[in-house]
Amino acid sequence: MRTKLVAGNWKMYKTLREARSFSEQLTEFADLLLNTRHESLICAPFTALFGLHDQLAQMHVKLGAQNMHEMAEGAFTGEVSAPMLKELQCEYVILGHSERRQYFAESDDAVARKAMTALNQMLTPIVCVGETLEEREAGATRSVVSRQLGPVLQALKSQSAKALDATALVIAYEPIWAIGSGRSSEAKDAEEVAAWIRSLVTASLGSDAASQVRVLYGGSVKPENIVSYVEQPNIDGALVGGASLQPASFAALVQQVATITS
Ligand code: PGA
Repeated sequence: MRTKLVAGNWKMYKTLREARSFSEQLTEFADLLLNTRHESLICAPFTALFGLHDQLAQMHVKLGAQNMHEMAEGAFTGEVSAPMLKELQCEYVILGHSERRQYFAESDDAVARKAMTALNQMLTPIVCVGETLEEREAGATRSVVSRQLGPVLQALKSQSAKALDATALVIAYEPIWAIGSGRSSEAKDAEEVAAWIRSLVTASLGSDAASQVRVLYGGSVKPENIVSYVEQPNIDGALVGGASLQPASFAALVQQVATITS
């Protein structure tokens, strides 16, 4: 059984003070958060990570980052490494979000290298993939997703037996046209791509790994529509931007998923 995951992606929102205020307000929903069978997670800006962990942990909300460098340390001005995130109690890191691919020129290969580093450091990578509207309209969704995931799966496949636990990988399918647009994907279309992603994992890593890798949907997910995605057989949760920024809305996302997991 794969544990469902509700992951908030705060992007470049919230100062440390605002983040602390969020977690204080979230304590109002502590009973709900403590009594769910699925995981919940906030991926906060680097500057808020240190100030967030303790309070979120008390509510069983996990902490993640939104990016990291592929090297453990070095002369890379302005970058943050996996060991730095681990020390701040991060358990997850979003990698290859479409905004990073688009505005910071992150390549498929770079995302794969980061994913391997994260796994080696026992940080769970949430690798994001997804097509543009043009690509969707050209019927290229599957080929785009295959291209984006190819280097990650290849790298995992070539690991030696002591191996990284491929099952620790999380893949988020986020069609770019659905992000922040209010135009979410049809649940059945998202399910079709999630099933395709799982078939790619089967082809590279075998059916055991494929049955354990978690696939999330992201793109204009809200409390009102999250269940329609997460109840799909191949969708194990959601990566949520805008609707994760307010405590009541984040709690409502968690609560909606609890209706199908408890
Ligand atoms: P959104 O963002 O929920 O605001 O559409 C999702 C994401 O970019 O991860």
